[in-house]
Amino acid sequence: MRIRPEQPGDEQGIRRVNIAAFDTDAEARLVDRLRMDASPLLSLVAIEHREIVGHLMCSPMRCDNQPRLQIFGLAPMAVTPAHQRQGIGSLLVDEAIEHAQNIGFDAMVVLGYPEYYPRFGFVPASRFGIHSTYDVPDEVFMALELRPGSLGVASGIVRYHNAFEALGDAH
Ligand SMILES: CC(C)(COP(=O)(O)OP(=O)(O)OC[C@H]1O[C@@H](n2cnc3c(N)ncnc32)[C@H](O)[C@@H]1OP(=O)(O)O)[C@@H](O)C(=O)NCCC(=O)NCCS
Repeated sequence: MRIRPEQPGDEQGIRRVNIAAFDTDAEARLVDRLRMDASPLLSLVAIEHREIVGHLMCSPMRCDNQPRLQIFGLAPMAVTPAHQRQGIGSLLVDEAIEHAQNIGFDAMVVLGYPEYYPRFGFVPASRFGIHSTYDVPDEVFMALELRPGSLGVASGIVRYHNAFEALGDAH
């Protein structure tokens, strides 16, 4: 098992992983759109026996009240069903956090399973006074400071890249 940044030629393998992990191809299309439109972008793949079995993408978000804050939105993330619950997702998240820190990002947010992300240090984003445009339970929208105190003055609404509008549900 190896985690590495996406390379040219990985596109189809990444599509396959996202389509296998989600019920629709919406996430696969989101990944294709972010690849074209979002910058900087973090796209990591998990490789086993030369095959892409996991994928994670992070794209920059904007905080209404703090436009200079560099926040990565972790989404989407997928591991092929046959490879789930073997720690691959965790390796991808660990690597994403390290990479985001290295390139100087302030924070990472995720909209996801509240049982999963706290193990990486994510806490409900509302603790920092930040909220998403999605109408979701408080514990589902989580944030992680990549530098201690980076979200201390954040408060506001953080917005995903426009490409997420195609997924719906945001207000
Ligand atoms: C979520 C996902 C990326 C995790 O990858 P993974 O390689 O299985 O993750 P790990 O092996 O590192 O960790 C497994 C943990 O993921 C969490 N998890 C996985 N699927 C879950 C689900 N459907 N509901 C709640 N938690 C889930 C659990 O906490 C699980 O821990 P456990 O095995 O102790 O119960 C993968 O399950 C997946 O692709 N799911 C379908 C697509 C998806 O929902 N993407 C994420 C949106 S936030």
